[in-house]
Amino acid sequence: MPDPNSPDPVLDQLRAIVGPAWVMTAPGETVGYLEDWRRLYRGRTPAVVRPGNTDELSRVMAVCHCHGIAVVPQGGNTSMVGGAIPSDAGDQMVISLSRLNRVRAIDPVDMTMTVEAGVTLRAAQETASAHGGLLPLSIGSEGSAQIGGVLSTNAGGNNTVRYGNARDLVLGLEVVLADGQVWNGLRRLRKDNTGYCLRQLFVGAEGTLGIITAAVLKIVARPRETAVAFCAVASPEAALAVFARFQAHDPAAIQAFEYMSGLGVDLVLRLVEGTILPLAARADHYVLIELATPRPNAGLRQSLEDVLEAAMADGEVIDAAIAESEAQIRAIWRLREEHTESQKRAGASVKNDVSVPVSSVPALIRGATAACEALLPGILVAPFGHMGDGNIHFNLVQPPDMAAADFAALDHAIMDTVAEIVRTLDGSFSAEHGIGQLKTYMMADWRGGAELMMMQKVKQALDPAGLLNPGKVLPKS
Ligand code: FAD
Ligand code: MLT
Ligand code: ZN
Repeated sequence: MPDPNSPDPVLDQLRAIVGPAWVMTAPGETVGYLEDWRRLYRGRTPAVVRPGNTDELSRVMAVCHCHGIAVVPQGGNTSMVGGAIPSDAGDQMVISLSRLNRVRAIDPVDMTMTVEAGVTLRAAQETASAHGGLLPLSIGSEGSAQIGGVLSTNAGGNNTVRYGNARDLVLGLEVVLADGQVWNGLRRLRKDNTGYCLRQLFVGAEGTLGIITAAVLKIVARPRETAVAFCAVASPEAALAVFARFQAHDPAAIQAFEYMSGLGVDLVLRLVEGTILPLAARADHYVLIELATPRPNAGLRQSLEDVLEAAMADGEVIDAAIAESEAQIRAIWRLREEHTESQKRAGASVKNDVSVPVSSVPALIRGATAACEALLPGILVAPFGHMGDGNIHFNLVQPPDMAAADFAALDHAIMDTVAEIVRTLDGSFSAEHGIGQLKTYMMADWRGGAELMMMQKVKQALDPAGLLNPGKVLPKS
C-alpha cells in the first residue's frame, strides 16, 4: 500500500499520467471524498485521483491493476448507502470522475445526448432543455449527482412513473474495465440485438464491474403544459384510489405521483425555512400530482380539477391546492423535496428505500408503521416517496428524547422489521438507492441461491482480482 506521506513509485506513476495536481493526498484535500452524505461512513485512502479524460483513466486503471490496488469510483458522493466511500483500511484509491465533465454531443433528431460521467445531472438536464428537449430523470440530489453515479446506481426519482429508471434512458456506454481496457459502446441505436446487452450490466452495478466514462442518453419532447396539485387525502388507501383515478383518466399524462405522511410534512414545515402548507389544515396523508404533456392546449388543468373533484365527492381527497404559477409549482415541490434535508436536521434517521407492487402501498404503510411503533414506542414514522412506482422511502426518525447514537444502533433491527413487511408483500428491500456497503448483509437472504451465484460469476468474469469497489453490493464470500 502506498504511504501518502512519502514519495511513492505508484503515486509517481499516477502523477505522470494525470498531472501532479490531480493526485491528491493531503488530508485537507481528500477529506470531502471520504465521508458520505448521510455521515454514516468515513474511509481512508492513499490518494484521490482525478483523471481528465478516458485515456488517462484507462492508464490509471492499468497501473492500479498491475500493482493490485483496489479503486473506488466516485461521482457526486450523494450515495444513500455508502457506495462511494472507501473502507477504513486505507488501501483503496478513490477515483473521482468529476473532471470528465463534457457534453460530447446532442442530437435533436435522434433525440440523444452523449455526456461524460462527471457531468452533473442538472447540467445534463439544462443542456437538453437548451436544445428543446427533456432529460426525463429528476432526483433531489441532481445538482451534485453525476451521470456516472446516477447510472451506476440506476437512479429512479420523481418521473420514473412515466419514463422509467435511469437504465431505461441508456442507449450506449463507454466503460473502463478493471485492467484498463476501454469498451466503446457509445451507440445511438434504438435497436441493436447483437448478443448480450452489456451496457445494462454496468447500469446499477455501483462501480463493481467497470468505471463508466460516458453515456448516450435518450431525451424526450419537453412538456408544453404542466399542472401540479398538492392534496390532503383521507388515508393511504385514498391516496391509491386517487392514483387509480388518474391512471384511468389519462395514464400518459402522469409525470409524478408522490406520497407524503403528515409527520414528514410537519418536519419540513418546522425545520426548513420558507416552506408553507398551501392548505387550510394539516392532514395525516398527502399526495403531490404532476401532469405534463408536450401537446399544446391539452387542457391538463381542467383534467386535474375534474379528477380531483370526483375524488373529493367520494371522500378520498379532503382538500387540494392547484398551482397557479411557476413559483407555486416550486413551492409545492419543495414540500416534497425537502423531506430528506428535514429528516437529516431532525436527528438520527433510518432509511428504508423499499418497493412493493403499487396496489400494496397502503398495506406497506400500515404494516410497517405498526411494526416500527411496536419495536420502538415514540419512533417518528415519516414515509414518503414515489407512490406511482410502488417505491416508498419508509424513513424513521429518532424519538426527540433519545440519544442519536442509541437510535442509530437500532438501524439493522429497524431495517429488518420493515423488510419483513416488505417480504410479505412480494417487494424489494432496495428500490432505487442500491446496496452500497449498507445493505450487503441483506443480499444472501434476499437474493441468495442461483441469483447471487450468477452475480458472483459476473463479478468474477469482469473483475477477477476484486479490485473494483470491494465490499460493495456483494456479500463477502
Ligand atoms: P456517488 O454517490 O458518487 O456514487 C454512487 C455509486 O456509484 C458508488 O457505488 C460509486 O462507486 C459508483 N460510481 C459513481 N460514479 C461511477 C462511475 N462513473 N462509474 C462506475 N461507478 C460509479 N436516488 C434515487 O434513485 N432517487 C432519488 O429520488 C434520490 N434522491 C436523493 C436525494 C438526496 C438529497 C440525496 C443525497 C440522494 C438521493 N438519491 C436518490 C441517491 C442517489 O443514488 C444519488 O443521488 C445518485 O444517483 C448518485 O450519484 P452520485 O454521482 O452522487 O454517485
Ligand atoms: C428522495 O426520493 O427524495 C430520496 O430518494 C429519499 C430519501 O431521503 O430516502
Ligand atoms: Zn427517492
